[in-house]
Amino acid sequence: MSPFHYRDGVLHAERVPLPVIAASIGTPAYVYSTAAFRASARAFRAGLAPIARQHVAFAVKANPNLAILRLLAAEGYGADIVSHGEMLRALAAGIPPRAIVFSGVGKTDAEMIAALDAGVGQFNVEFEEEGVVLARLAAARGLRAVALLRVNPDIDAGTHAKISTGRRDNKFGVGLDDAPGIYARLARLDGLDLRGVAIHIGSQIADLAPLEAAISRVGTLIADLRAAGHRITHVDLGGGLGIPYRPDEIYPTAAAYGAMVARVTRDWDATLMFEPGRFVAGEAGVLLTEILWVKPGATHPYVIVDAAMNDLARPALYDAFHDFVAVEPNGRRIVANIAGPVCESGDTFAMGRAIDDVRRGDLAVFRTVGAYGATMASTYNCRPLIPEVLVDDDRFAVVADRISPQATLDVQPVPSWRRPTLSLSRQRR
Ligand code: LLP
Repeated sequence: MSPFHYRDGVLHAERVPLPVIAASIGTPAYVYSTAAFRASARAFRAGLAPIARQHVAFAVKANPNLAILRLLAAEGYGADIVSHGEMLRALAAGIPPRAIVFSGVGKTDAEMIAALDAGVGQFNVEFEEEGVVLARLAAARGLRAVALLRVNPDIDAGTHAKISTGRRDNKFGVGLDDAPGIYARLARLDGLDLRGVAIHIGSQIADLAPLEAAISRVGTLIADLRAAGHRITHVDLGGGLGIPYRPDEIYPTAAAYGAMVARVTRDWDATLMFEPGRFVAGEAGVLLTEILWVKPGATHPYVIVDAAMNDLARPALYDAFHDFVAVEPNGRRIVANIAGPVCESGDTFAMGRAIDDVRRGDLAVFRTVGAYGATMASTYNCRPLIPEVLVDDDRFAVVADRISPQATLDVQPVPSWRRPTLSLSRQRR
């Protein structure tokens, strides 16, 4: 049974009725299911069972909530991080530094130093100069930074342009043609322990074919690198496996993905690394919202909910579909637009969609928001950052407090212009 299901006509998260959470915490709120997180985390790892040597690092960007990271740490997940902030989260969650992979195209020197000092297990280097600087910073500390070179296999992942990362003109990695030369130069640096290559071609990938094509190209590259005398022991295959957002969609299973990877990498003799985010987190969360108004519209009524684009940015950013269902459906259906209170036409979750008939004061949820939901929230329109709630069987707990508009106001000092410390005038003289 899905962890989010109806019982006696009321939507529950595990054994907790969502109206109970709304009454106790307020809306809007993200609600996560422990059982759902565990199930998807285990399904992904079970899918990889045919792969002998492997390391799975959760892409923290998908859901950096501390309680969630703790849960995944207990499932044996490492962490894929892209900032100092994500490193702090992963370490606070008890993920061993050795199990952390530092990805990302804009690492600062300060971030690399902090990661070296913390003993982060691997850096995925995006291009040559980054590798040179990392080697220098490591050598200055008497260290050798374990690193993989991220390559760009020039594959169209067939996903939304804003979440596609593996085409030649994307900002990520080095081109396959340039990779052998760059690899050879980086491999000579004392401060680097270069162990292989990394890819990540995009997110919400619906089909295994582009993933397979990218992995095959990496296979050719590592054969060439070995022929040139390099010792390749690790290959990071990134994340990207998609999930269904619409009730009728069918996506590749983790087992199908694992079988494909095992087949294509059969002769590789390397430790394979994976960085799933969405697959693990996406289906484990809903966004609980209250219907503020049903406002007549030119074609369809507007259902105005108390969640907005600042709470869930995916529809506004990527035209993403999130299923919308009433918490206590009355059995009737309407065709409506769904929008939030933010003053932009883009703050629209759906247009002309057949949904449960909802009225002012009713509760509803957007489904499949456990990944790239809360983590992408902002305070636009001086709205709060909304709370996150974790359900475990018949219990629930707030795992991220609401950050109130008063709290964001309190960190905005207005200058009196009497404090000399921030003045540039001394430097100019
Ligand atoms: N590894 C790297 C280097 C990445 O850049 C990403 C995601 C992942 C792993 C995890 O990918 P996943 O398994 O979650 O597909 N905000 C967008 C998604 C952006 C993904 C960015 N990189 C969305 O809401 O759809």
